[in-house]
Amino acid sequence: WLHPRGPYSGARMPLLGLGTWKAPPGQVAAAVQAAVRLGYRHLDCAEVYRNEAEVGAALAALFEAGVVRREDLFITGKLWNTSHAAAAVERAARRTLRALRLDYLDLYLMHWPVTGTKGPRLTPPTAETWGAMEGLVHAGLARSIGVANFSVRKLEELAAGATIPPAVCQVEAHPYFRNERLLAHCRAAGIHLTAYSPLGSPDSAAELGRAPSARLLDDPVLAEVAGEAGRTPAQVALRWALQRGTSFLPKSTNEDRIKQNADVWDWELSEEAMAKLNGIAHQQRMVDGSFWLSEEGPYKTLSDLWDEP
Ligand code: A2P
Repeated sequence: WLHPRGPYSGARMPLLGLGTWKAPPGQVAAAVQAAVRLGYRHLDCAEVYRNEAEVGAALAALFEAGVVRREDLFITGKLWNTSHAAAAVERAARRTLRALRLDYLDLYLMHWPVTGTKGPRLTPPTAETWGAMEGLVHAGLARSIGVANFSVRKLEELAAGATIPPAVCQVEAHPYFRNERLLAHCRAAGIHLTAYSPLGSPDSAAELGRAPSARLLDDPVLAEVAGEAGRTPAQVALRWALQRGTSFLPKSTNEDRIKQNADVWDWELSEEAMAKLNGIAHQQRMVDGSFWLSEEGPYKTLSDLWDEP
């Protein structure tokens, strides 16, 4: 299941990646080991998940046991908001590499268009951070670079000043938040879209202090399609992501579910099933970024953050 539709940096990204957000220390190593043994070749990590060192230990064990080689895996890291200053970017990337026990990342993403400083403008500006991230590519620390949680407008602004265009934009996308405008923009701009929270991530919303108004995995339309396909609702959500041409990062620390989530290749959803899923009226961000809003700016409202009404 190494599907070579990847970022347009010339690199290839396996479409299925294991998500590690909320995978607690004590469980994430076992999850990574199980996933790689089951054939996952893409891991999605971030410094802010506070489990990189444990992921690194699992990777070292897998390499040592000869299960895979480094070059068989696609590993993503993410630059946290507090390390956006040019001088901080390489330090952060090196910290991540040390924790993961790697000498390069396949992909390094700016985690949010947010720096934590307050005021009318984003400081440091995205262009400064991006310039330093381009330096990581030249230094061989990252093979590809990209962003997460960007809007169409923020992508356009970034691309206008970039020497290396972003290869990937990682955002929330699932049948309860299809993110269609951004997907269309990314297709047109040659940016690969990776879907986070592809299962609708009810627990993320809970962790962020917001109860979702509905749970994707309990949705009646999803259940109907799953019944017809003889698959689970989770598998239908992932196959839907695959058929839209996005990569997807289901998180699980449960071996049965890790296995179930990887069983999405040798069957497909009919056009009719896709249309049903694309017609679900309920749309809601689970990770809405409201924790980044401030009266002083740079983002006073959710429309400032997402550039949407
Ligand atoms: P667990 O780790 O216990 O499997 P998302 O990737 O959208 O953030 O969703 C992750 C959530 O979905 C986690 O709570 C995870 O719990 C759960 N989950 C993962 N795979 C499945 C599955 N196949 N069926 C049901 N729930 C799942």
